Amino acid sequence: MLTDKTIVLGITGSIAAYKAAELASRLTKAGAKVETVMTEAAQRFIVPLTLQSLTHRPVACDMWTPLENFSITHVSLAQAADVAVIAPATANIIAKMAYGLADDLLSSIVLATKAPVIVAPAMNNNMYESSVTQENIARLRARGFVIVEPEIGHLACNAIGKGRMADIDTVVDAINMILRRERDMAGKRVVITAGGTREPIDPVRFIGNRSSGKMGHALAEAARDRGADVTLISTVSLSQPSNMRVVHVESASQMLEAVMQTVWQADVLVMAAAVADYRPKTTQENKIKKDAAVLNIELERTLDILAEVEGDFLRIGFAAETENLLDNARKKLVDKRLDLIAANDVTIAGSGFGSDTNKVTLISRDGKEYDLPLMPKRDVADKVWDWVAANTRRAA
Ligand code: PMT
Repeated sequence: MLTDKTIVLGITGSIAAYKAAELASRLTKAGAKVETVMTEAAQRFIVPLTLQSLTHRPVACDMWTPLENFSITHVSLAQAADVAVIAPATANIIAKMAYGLADDLLSSIVLATKAPVIVAPAMNNNMYESSVTQENIARLRARGFVIVEPEIGHLACNAIGKGRMADIDTVVDAINMILRRERDMAGKRVVITAGGTREPIDPVRFIGNRSSGKMGHALAEAARDRGADVTLISTVSLSQPSNMRVVHVESASQMLEAVMQTVWQADVLVMAAAVADYRPKTTQENKIKKDAAVLNIELERTLDILAEVEGDFLRIGFAAETENLLDNARKKLVDKRLDLIAANDVTIAGSGFGSDTNKVTLISRDGKEYDLPLMPKRDVADKVWDWVAANTRRAA
């Protein structure tokens, strides 16, 4: 897997820098060309000569010393990388990467590279858990960076908490996974729906739901990063998703129309949106006055988008459930003629509507079930695309 791969290994100033030596050695033995980049602080914990000896390569420590025949160090290394791994990553480099700072060699390489970036944080538990570090990590995740979560344990500062760099096996697994995933969706056209629909009652009111669109947007960004041609049909403007087509809709009928217009040329449809099952039978032209003591609004069924669309594409749905999770999801898989359904337990804290994490069980048409732990929505998205990549490969 690692033969002929160039891995830029960024080491920053943490006591866990010593673990980077073992990582560099493991990657080199597995056949990778490891280009080590050390920040000034990293060199206070471990000397460049250690890394040079283990990787048999020069170690880059500043912007201004050219490497071999490289003309501009940060651009050359950024272009050469198949993957960049920042291990250990301090709160400082995480903040710099989150905001696009480029004030030293490592941060400049991260900004300049188009390769996937894996980040293995290591720091004091309070620094890791602080809201600003968590916000920065969430920003990186949303931009497609892969975060290898630190472990809970005894820290160098004598505290016990979350902040110890993940073990080397976990980091190596992440590298292998990324190299396998990289562009495995290239050439695939995917249509993804996101957010909750809004069914108008009158010009100022609607019937809606708690969907934030985060799950659907995470699916779109993950598919894009794996090389897919993405159309995102969304009811929300979460971020500015780049390099994909974004169609903004509000109601279930607008979403149905947008799906119909795009899905006929797609390979995969993923319905992560929470689509209204009922809508007001009529929309009042003017704002309803609060004259009546009781107001009855007659509702009618919306069309089921998944049931309506026909075509030769993989059909993937989500089932947001508050009871009988798996039975209800299995039934929807069959009733809606799906290839895969994500049974989404929305009763668990941190799962479902609005959160950055989700807890799903993937159930495929052939009866296989994959019970995933609570994980970032971006990681859930990648698990869905792992299934798609594996299953479309088999079908081809
Ligand atoms: O947006 P977030 O805040 O990140 O939250 C994510 C989520 C909880 C909304 C998402 O993960 C999720 O579970 N989405 C599906 C919610 C839902 O509507 O489930 P359902 O069981 O009602 O519908 C089953 C499937 O049929 C869904 O794929 C749905 O998009 C689809 N459907 C539903 C109704 C309808 N009229 N047409 C449809 O195609």
